[in-house]
Amino acid sequence: MKFSYFYYFCIVSVVALYKNKAQIFQNQLGYCEPFTVEFIAGLVSKEARQILDPGSRPRQKQLRYDLFTRRNPYKRQLLLTGDRNRLLASNFNASWPVRLSIHGWNGQTTTCSNAAIKDAYLARSDYNVILVDWSDYSLDINYFRVVTEIYEIAHQLTNFTRFLHNHTGTSFKDMYLIGHSAGCHIAGMAGKLLHPYKYGVIFALDSSGPVHRSLDAKWRLAPTDAYYVESIQSDVALFGFPADNLAHASFYPNWGLGQPHCPNVTTMEPDFTCDHFGALYYFVESLQNPRAFGAVKCKNYESIENYKCGCGARQCKASDYMGGDPAVPKKGVFYFSTRATMPFGYGDICRMKRPIKSTITRI
Ligand SMILES: *[C@@H]1O[C@H](CO)[C@@H](O)[C@H](O)[C@H]1NC(C)=O
Ligand SMILES: *[C@@H]1O[C@H](CO)[C@@H](O)[C@H](O)[C@H]1NC(C)=O
Ligand SMILES: *[C@@H]1O[C@H](CO)[C@@H](O)[C@H](O)[C@H]1NC(C)=O
Ligand SMILES: *[C@@H]1O[C@H](CO)[C@@H](O)[C@H](O)[C@H]1NC(C)=O
Repeated sequence: MKFSYFYYFCIVSVVALYKNKAQIFQNQLGYCEPFTVEFIAGLVSKEARQILDPGSRPRQKQLRYDLFTRRNPYKRQLLLTGDRNRLLASNFNASWPVRLSIHGWNGQTTTCSNAAIKDAYLARSDYNVILVDWSDYSLDINYFRVVTEIYEIAHQLTNFTRFLHNHTGTSFKDMYLIGHSAGCHIAGMAGKLLHPYKYGVIFALDSSGPVHRSLDAKWRLAPTDAYYVESIQSDVALFGFPADNLAHASFYPNWGLGQPHCPNVTTMEPDFTCDHFGALYYFVESLQNPRAFGAVKCKNYESIENYKCGCGARQCKASDYMGGDPAVPKKGVFYFSTRATMPFGYGDICRMKRPIKSTITRI
């Protein structure tokens, strides 16, 4: 008799453990979704299926919002625009700042990069961290279609922040948008749509360049889209944005070219996107240590293109720091370099390094 209870107990505990692991979302392999080449290949077959059967294409695409706080650091609370009961029953607390993270094309809220942002914020202090899920649109191999949908996505996002503001009293100034890649342009467009109000800050982590580099400021991220816009550009050659007109302050780690830790280290993204995700992981480190990335000011974007910034010596005293929270407004173009292993930042001394070639040899 006792024996069977024991077995029953074992089975229940194993099931509970398994379920717990499935529900725990954090930046650790096994607890978040790595962004893999196989995953992208899956989108190609999804597109093929939808071409063969147009009825399988979703008719209504909706944004969802995963709330994490120190009271629920590993398990999301789902929020939806207009669902006041959900919001009031959640752990959302208007006395904590709101940080909205917006993933990029092919991204989803459950990726490890998003977990890294969420974990870093909650390790720092009390925040309402909201991972914006626009996967109804982003999981689409056709990038050009996604680009044409950015206005609609941003409109939904602006509506959600208005809903938060209306029902919790949180000011737009206390909301920061943190975008990665195409997510930066969604943040920018949301900022434009919020007019005459403004979000406090947009942190743009390697804004996407293909298509958007040739668009007018009306259709991409621009400095006027928030009170302060800071851009970190780690892959100007391929997926990023090769200019300095997105933000008040534009930071170029390692001249925006090959990042020293690539193609390796995080193992959460395919090698060919390592430079592109560099900005994101540097930003995450700056949340843990706001003086991790001491930078020097450059004359202009041409100084970055010609590798000519600094104080004339191999090491320069930092004039400013990239990232951190709360944001510290700066203005201009900045350079900093990084280590090949974590922690990536050199701290208060900016080391002037020669540009290294990107490790991307094939896609
Ligand atoms: C909201 O946060 C503040 C400050 O951390 C705390 O004092 C307060 O009790 C919280 N409110 C609720 C409803 O939990
Ligand atoms: C945003 O909200 C307005 C007014 O509440 C509504 O008319 C509009 O359809 C919404 N747009 C989207 C994209 O959700
Ligand atoms: C928020 O409140 C404003 C002003 O009362 C109203 O126009 C708007 O429709 C509301 N939006 C949402 C999403 O609740
Ligand atoms: C890549 O990572 C593996 C495992 O962490 C390590 O053994 C290897 O030396 C790394 N390669 C490079 C080029 O850094």
